[in-house]
Amino acid sequence: MANEAVVVEAGDRLLIRSFEMPRPRDDEAVVRVEAFSLNRGEVRRAWSGSEVSWRPGYDLAGTVLRAAATGIGPREGTRVVGLVPQGSWARYVAVPIDSLAALPPITSTTTAATLPTAGLTAYYALKQGGLLLGKRVLVTGASGGVGDFALQMARRAGAAVVVAQLRRASHEAAALAAGATAVAIGDSPAPARSLGPFDLIVDGVNGAVLAQALEMLAPGGVCATYGSAAGERLDFDLRRFFRSGRTSLRGIALFEELRHDDGPGPALARLVALAASGDIRPRIAIEDSWQQIDRIARALMARDFAGKAVLRIDGDPTA
Ligand SMILES: NC(=O)c1ccc[n+]([C@@H]2O[C@H](COP(=O)([O-])OP(=O)(O)OC[C@H]3O[C@@H](n4cnc5c(N)ncnc54)[C@H](OP(=O)(O)O)[C@@H]3O)[C@@H](O)[C@H]2O)c1
Repeated sequence: MANEAVVVEAGDRLLIRSFEMPRPRDDEAVVRVEAFSLNRGEVRRAWSGSEVSWRPGYDLAGTVLRAAATGIGPREGTRVVGLVPQGSWARYVAVPIDSLAALPPITSTTTAATLPTAGLTAYYALKQGGLLLGKRVLVTGASGGVGDFALQMARRAGAAVVVAQLRRASHEAAALAAGATAVAIGDSPAPARSLGPFDLIVDGVNGAVLAQALEMLAPGGVCATYGSAAGERLDFDLRRFFRSGRTSLRGIALFEELRHDDGPGPALARLVALAASGDIRPRIAIEDSWQQIDRIARALMARDFAGKAVLRIDGDPTA
């Protein structure tokens, strides 16, 4: 049986190449991947120049081809979603069983493929706010893959106020549909000030957006920062950040959060249940063949579309 995977080649090009079948450890199942989604982080890493021959990809959804040798975990033929630290953009992938969650028949692999990185990052960021019932939440970069899930989950968790910071007015309708109670449009979250102060801020933008948001925390409020879409450096007024009292800034690195939890499986299973019940609805902007990987990765980085891109593994290498 032949395997194929996306690989980074010179010039930061993403191409599909032939590889050997994966050799799973005893606690890994081999998954025949049907769909995967793209995230900003893995494409940026693929383009970082030092990663030629790296095989990118965190998210996958498909069917178990071979169960783990331990006999634990999903059986052959089970439809699953999973998360791996690299290499999910492939026809066959070995996945630790604690990184998989089974899919109900109602949930498509296209929907499921959007959940792991973006959904889990939103989940761990929101967790920093504790019980969200009746609280005020600000989500910056709310038109992004993570931001969209954060809006939806914050509202489903009972937050009374969920403000979406958006660069462009054209994203307002989608943010309100996702559960935002109000929007703050523009490169500054200043319009959100009158809707705060906020018990939780979920930030994936950094820069001037985060600097101003940090001044809007309620006493005891937490800012969970997971991304830096606008750049790495932060220049902010420290006194305005701490003067409400007991405020904190908490960094989220998904794979670190997972290391301190029970692996991705249990949290992924919760997201799958929310998607199956319609309580979260991934915003899928693009669904295409994985043959289009290079073009769609470039469109993602240029922010040519908002929402998730899902690529489906088609073609048969043995045909
Ligand atoms: N720490 C972790 O474990 C972790 C996990 C997942 C993601 N991340 C990081 O989090 C960030 C967001 O990820 P994502 O997958 O949600 O990305 P995404 O889907 O590409 O969304 C990016 C978001 O940032 C906004 N944005 C982009 N450039 C901006 C700028 N210069 N100023 C203000 N806003 C800007 C976009 O607004 P427009 O829609 O207007 O373009 C959009 O809302 C990325 O940096 C990613 O690498 C980190």
